[in-house]
Amino acid sequence: MATRLKQIFSQLNSSSSMSSELWQNVPLAPPDSIFKLTAAYKADTFEQKINLGVGAYRDDNDKPWVLPVVRKAEEIILNSVALDHEYLPITGLPEFTVAAAKLILGSDSTALSQGRVTSVQTISGTGANHLGALFLSRFYQFAENKEIYLSDPTWANHPAIFNNVGIAPVYYPYYDPKTIGLNYDGFISSLKSAPSGSIFLIHACAHNPTGVDPTREQWGAIADIMLEKEHYGFFDCAYQGFASGDLDNDAWAVRFFVDKGVKMLVCQSFAKNAGLYGERVGALHIVSPTKEAAERVKSQLSVLQRSEISNPPTYGARIVTLILNNTSLFSEWKRDISTMAGRIIDMRKELHKILTEELHTPGNWDHIVNQIGMFSFTGITPEQSKALTEKAHIYLTVNGRISMTGLNRNNIRYFATSLDAAVRGTL
Ligand SMILES: Cc1ncc(COP(=O)(O)O)c(C=O)c1O
Repeated sequence: MATRLKQIFSQLNSSSSMSSELWQNVPLAPPDSIFKLTAAYKADTFEQKINLGVGAYRDDNDKPWVLPVVRKAEEIILNSVALDHEYLPITGLPEFTVAAAKLILGSDSTALSQGRVTSVQTISGTGANHLGALFLSRFYQFAENKEIYLSDPTWANHPAIFNNVGIAPVYYPYYDPKTIGLNYDGFISSLKSAPSGSIFLIHACAHNPTGVDPTREQWGAIADIMLEKEHYGFFDCAYQGFASGDLDNDAWAVRFFVDKGVKMLVCQSFAKNAGLYGERVGALHIVSPTKEAAERVKSQLSVLQRSEISNPPTYGARIVTLILNNTSLFSEWKRDISTMAGRIIDMRKELHKILTEELHTPGNWDHIVNQIGMFSFTGITPEQSKALTEKAHIYLTVNGRISMTGLNRNNIRYFATSLDAAVRGTL
């Protein structure tokens, strides 16, 4: 009996020591920098605190905004008895992927009419990036090394997404801190010196985090070199409509590259332009040389998607499909988009005016009005960014990026005077 008890105890001991050691080699990862910033902002009790970190639209009262057109579409969905909760096909709601492809590539797209585009519904833009990366990692004939050229800087998630599928990120110059604008020459020489057939990730519009986009003339030169060197374009379009307030205008570069015949894919998100952040609505569009190739691509995307998410979510895709396929809802959506983009542009003008005309803040601030989309790279130093957070309770990433949508009529003056003091070193 005593021996039996001893045996049981020894087993218990060994299993408990096993479980305490099981994850011993798992290091504690740092929290995501943006979400950490939001948590710190929420915990701050200072009345005039400002959150300029978050990449989500806020109205003039600093509140999340449900687009009126989305409310209407939701009502229609709620009242539709015909809708069930069955699984969607693996590649998504067919009406959604068709309409989404037209939105980004244009309803007159030759690639679309020739059946050369494979469109798959994804878990928003992040899922599109992931599925595109996974597909390339399996099937792309890499030039030399298994790598992708990312803009320096880029959205913080890009390197993680490619690392996850075994594609190593390398960087091409994009932002020039001296001009607070595009490092066009650096970008061009990187395109020229990269091995033929390299993959370049390109922000389709409203570059995150800089707000700096190439001009149409510059896009033309970039496309020419990509064609010449047979580079592959991995276009990420998370802000269609947010840059200029016009959906077609913001899709210009994507359509131009497709028409030119650059080999490419496009990641599309409806998080920002439809305010459907949490619904995870997006699509991946891969443009192939032939209809037959597009079909083979689709078959493989289905295989990949099946093992990852099985079927994409229904609700957000239904909302977007209703909006895209109904003429009057579509016009309303365009109005909602220009309301959001317009408010951001107004904030840019107002901030620029206060800094230059009222406060005479040292330095040139024209980039505030020249940059595009949700974000602005202020050009301030990491020390000045930290001072703004620690002393003025203004939360922004240390690289000096501010989300313009965090500014509104009530807080813009406080922000401008704090920025002015940070720049002067008097904060
Ligand atoms: C450049 C870029 N790509 C993709 C995304 C993906 O966003 P989501 O997955 O919410 O659509 C974002 C969001 O911040 C982004 O800035």
